[in-house]
Amino acid sequence: MINTKLNINETKKKYKMKILIVDDELKTAGILKSQIEQLAEVKCTLCDSGSEALKILEEHDYELVITDKNMPDMDGLMLAKSIKERYPDIILILISGYPDLDDLTNAINDCGISYYISKPWELAEVKIILNSVIDRIHLHRQNVDLMLNLEKHNIQISKLNNNLEKSFLELIRLLSDIMAEVAPELTRHSQEVALLSKKVAGKFNKKNLENSDLEISSLLHDLGLIGFSKDTFLTPPQRLSGDLRKMYLQHPKIGAEMLKAAPRLKRVRKIILTHHENIDGTGMYEISGDKLCFEAKILRICDFYCDAVNLRNETHQNTLNFMKRREGTWFDTKALQAFIEVITVISGPQMLPVPITKLVAGMQVAKDIVSQNGHLILASGSVLTQLNLKRLKIYNDLDPLREIYITNENI
Ligand SMILES: [Fe+2]
Ligand SMILES: [Fe+2]
Repeated sequence: MINTKLNINETKKKYKMKILIVDDELKTAGILKSQIEQLAEVKCTLCDSGSEALKILEEHDYELVITDKNMPDMDGLMLAKSIKERYPDIILILISGYPDLDDLTNAINDCGISYYISKPWELAEVKIILNSVIDRIHLHRQNVDLMLNLEKHNIQISKLNNNLEKSFLELIRLLSDIMAEVAPELTRHSQEVALLSKKVAGKFNKKNLENSDLEISSLLHDLGLIGFSKDTFLTPPQRLSGDLRKMYLQHPKIGAEMLKAAPRLKRVRKIILTHHENIDGTGMYEISGDKLCFEAKILRICDFYCDAVNLRNETHQNTLNFMKRREGTWFDTKALQAFIEVITVISGPQMLPVPITKLVAGMQVAKDIVSQNGHLILASGSVLTQLNLKRLKIYNDLDPLREIYITNENI
């Protein structure tokens, strides 16, 4: 009789393996149970039929099932097959008094049997198999733990990335507000373009539109125009004198160049560089449409609209008609259709979204101002006063306001 327990290390010991022994001869099963319990720290349960074994497995977890092959009703192979289908992680050992090569092949290939013990068994053989099973279970648990840890870390990394992205976007918004001190009209234009392009992007489920590249590009797209006088950038480029026109035509390149030091902005630079390009390749730098990313196509449309309506005082309808005539040549069809849906809803047709920081007394509210919680703060048609501007800011701190729309004539 061997009294020594298996030489399993401490880590393995903490897993007290649960074994289910199935044999219609409970006396034989009892002998195997006591021998196994002498070999290792395990917990064995006995049962005398396949159907009973399946019932037990429905309610309890086992890592190893040892089944006799010859049993009435459901034999060991049938039982093994059912167990493998329902609980693929359970390791199966078949015991049989009459070893047969076909049975063995069937057991391994079709029924998921991992080990075979012939009756009467040798204790040394049982010991080797048990040791191997314990190693296998230990490895499996380690793998499961590793996968769980990996998943946990991935979630943490993704949260950190999201936070980082949010902080980065906040920083760019702040930068944009600071820019307003130097170039108020240009900054207001960029912020309007950003609000609009974000709404247009919201019409699509594209994965690459999930990050902040489009909003950042919109906020910074005319960075290369800083330093230009208001009159210069409000003049249509074709009417600018030679040198000024040359300089104006450089602004996408200059803007992209200014961001060269930030690796995170690599894609943003590409969008900024192409924000005056047409999909038929007739834009400012004549870059062909297949080289333009989708964000650049959206930015081109929103920038064009805000440029015409807000900066050059074109009417909403004339601008929209002009743009529709260039669908598929200057402007990407899908992006333009999404833009038209957005602008039709928000402009009504004469209103535009304005950030709360840009509201001034005298502006007329084009749509009810409502808080995130659905409270009506100021009705459509109201004219902003210093007093209600103060109130709006207080409300916004307590319960952030949804987007505010102002009639176009006031902007
Ligand atoms: Fe521009
Ligand atoms: Fe612009």
